[in-house]
Amino acid sequence: MASAFVFPLPSAVEWSHRILRERIKPGDWVVDATAGNGHDTEFLATLVGPSGRVFAFDIQAAAIESTRSRLLTVGLLEQVTLFHAGHETMSANLPAEAHGRLAGVMMNLGYLPGQDKACITTASTTLQAIEVALQALTPDGVATIIVYPGHRGGDEEAEQVAAKLSALPADEWQVQHICAVNRRKPAPECWVVLKACAKLSQ
Ligand SMILES: C[S@@+](CC[C@H](N)C(=O)[O-])C[C@H]1O[C@@H](n2cnc3c(N)ncnc32)[C@H](O)[C@@H]1O
Repeated sequence: MASAFVFPLPSAVEWSHRILRERIKPGDWVVDATAGNGHDTEFLATLVGPSGRVFAFDIQAAAIESTRSRLLTVGLLEQVTLFHAGHETMSANLPAEAHGRLAGVMMNLGYLPGQDKACITTASTTLQAIEVALQALTPDGVATIIVYPGHRGGDEEAEQVAAKLSALPADEWQVQHICAVNRRKPAPECWVVLKACAKLSQ
């Protein structure tokens, strides 16, 4: 008997995209903190449209070139600024007007599949970038952070991200954590952080 097709729940990246898709509008300014092969940058550039702007960071030259080439192919390069730099330099590299103007930030952490697994995001620089990114959000801006426990360095980074985001004051930030809870092996997790200037209930 043929097995029935099971429509799976969204992956951590898909959750992140769903949440950002609901909130990012044409004309918005957003950050992709880890450009990689440009899939997420392309997704964000489509949401903000020609009147918006995506600022995308990566420490690997090959990732920046891969992202540039993808954006060129799909005609979205014009609305993207690429930084061959770590996201921990966000504060210095973003234009002054971007601070307080970011409607969204996406951080898809870890390493680039198919590339050097040693080139991973690390807890200390990730926390620095989160700090700056959250402060740069608009009053109703949102950040999504995808962590990858289970690979070298990923556990520590996931733990430190969890500690930082769990400690954000509940009257200023809404924080949610989407993850698989009944698997033996670690799976990617999506954190969602919403800045809300109106007082939220505890
Ligand atoms: C999971 S991949 C990103 C996938 C990407 N968003 C995409 O759509 O293809 C993680 C990326 O983070 C980059 N990275 C590592 N440390 C970084 C840092 N400090 N700042 C910015 N990017 C970093 C890696 O080079 C890698 O390309």
